[in-house]
Amino acid sequence: MTDIRQKPAWRELGRLAAQMSRARVKSMFAHDERRAERFTLSAAGITLDYSKQRIDQAVMDALGRLAESQEFYAAREALFAGAPINNSEGRAAWHMALRRPADAPLYDEVHEVRADMAAFVDDVRRGRWVGYTGAPISDVVNIGIGGSDLGPRLICDALAQLRQRIHCHFVANVDPADLDDTLIRMDPERTLFIVTSKSFGTAETLANAGVARQWLLDNGASEDDIAKHFVAVSTNEEAVREFGIERIFGFWDWVGGRFSLWSAVGISIALGLGMDEFENMLAGAHAMDNHFETAPLGENLPAALALVGVWNNNFLGLSSHVVVPYAQRLAALPAFLQQLEMESNGKSVTRDGEASPVETVPTVWGSVGTNAQHAFFQMLHQGVLAADVDFVLPLSDADAADDERERQRVANCFAQAEALMCGRDTDALVAELTAEGLSGWELEQRLAARRFDGNRPSSMILMERLDAHHLGALLAAYEHKVFVQGVVWNINSFDQWGVELGKTMAGQLLGELEGDVESVEHDASTAALLARVRRAWGQ
Ligand code: F6P
Repeated sequence: MTDIRQKPAWRELGRLAAQMSRARVKSMFAHDERRAERFTLSAAGITLDYSKQRIDQAVMDALGRLAESQEFYAAREALFAGAPINNSEGRAAWHMALRRPADAPLYDEVHEVRADMAAFVDDVRRGRWVGYTGAPISDVVNIGIGGSDLGPRLICDALAQLRQRIHCHFVANVDPADLDDTLIRMDPERTLFIVTSKSFGTAETLANAGVARQWLLDNGASEDDIAKHFVAVSTNEEAVREFGIERIFGFWDWVGGRFSLWSAVGISIALGLGMDEFENMLAGAHAMDNHFETAPLGENLPAALALVGVWNNNFLGLSSHVVVPYAQRLAALPAFLQQLEMESNGKSVTRDGEASPVETVPTVWGSVGTNAQHAFFQMLHQGVLAADVDFVLPLSDADAADDERERQRVANCFAQAEALMCGRDTDALVAELTAEGLSGWELEQRLAARRFDGNRPSSMILMERLDAHHLGALLAAYEHKVFVQGVVWNINSFDQWGVELGKTMAGQLLGELEGDVESVEHDASTAALLARVRRAWGQ
């Protein structure tokens, strides 16, 4: 593929970026009364208002031409057709097949597993599936990490108010504190462990699962009872059986870990909230899939999210992307998106195996509003390193609005976006300081500290409400955003070779710490650190 920087649309965007450096979004609103409407898109109950971005129609058109020149339409067709677009592993990335309705399947086995899942969920929730003393299950502990943790954890947290009977817990970290602190609160007779691992080879997950198994045995269960308290979700049936788990919910190699919550990986969602809610989430995601698959670039919500991101990162030099959900229950969203975006597009090599000539994924980070306002918003408003921000705001109903805190939640969200764009008017600030009796050098100094220019870009993403359907639609929109950016940057968004080296080296170091393998030669820093740990452990 031609170097993207040689494409006419890329050059055009470079010119537009130079012009845009002098433009102020606030003035663009003043000159175009239809701006908000022009740059707002809605699909599947999600509304994206990107009118506070530093864009105009010429920019959006050029971004569209860029995506077209990178063969967006053919790539989208290949994605939905289940073609092996993950070219380094020869696999499809067909997570959309997981959320198709049962009467319009793309892949029959998806619905077989879903039916099996539904039967199991019903048994557990109705108390027909019992633990080793005959007691019904009250708590489910999902043991998994990365994509085998973040999605189900996010949905269960987000919809905690819908939880009935079964309480779901998530253990990811290999730090003993994670599992130990969870087990302290569990009743072994009523606890079901779900070991979730696509590969069933992830060291952290297997270590935690082994400890959980031993905990059950130490608390009165026999080896034969293990089957009543352990199920697995994996594509590696053989390894699951070797571990001693009989009940397995499978999925397929064309489901990437970070795209897997729609498969049986989401079983904890169904156990905690009910199968209907799980299906609602799939339906919301499917509605977004339909939109993404059919809408042209200029009307396509996930594509707009993606292209605005490309503009900010590659042309305005904003290599920091911040996600701030204004909803306590979405506190896990930034972590989910970090994996989705950075594991997918954190690549420096193109699909053709060449060094990427342009920046790829920006740093993705964030936290929940309003807390974030009292932590990092100072930097967003006045820091030298500018970022672009996604505000995510679930709407609520009239009853909720009776609560003053609810009104504050909304007011704060909109105020921050407006402040980022408008900054502080210098004349008004001078008047304020003069009224405080300041003048001369003192006034200048205070003015310099308090002024901020604004013109900092953000998007507002509204969810019609915080429910399973809209969560499904929101996450699917972000998945497609990641895909579109991968197409523009000509990278493979669906592999993650970069995490493998660290895993291998951790295995070697673990062996050394346990005295099982010969020490290899380490750099002086690592050798000194190992010696320090050995001293602490009395070795
Ligand atoms: O380390 C990266 C990764 O492979 C992720 O892509 C994945 O979601 C996570 O580890 C967990 O993998 P598994 O589901 O195979 O345990």
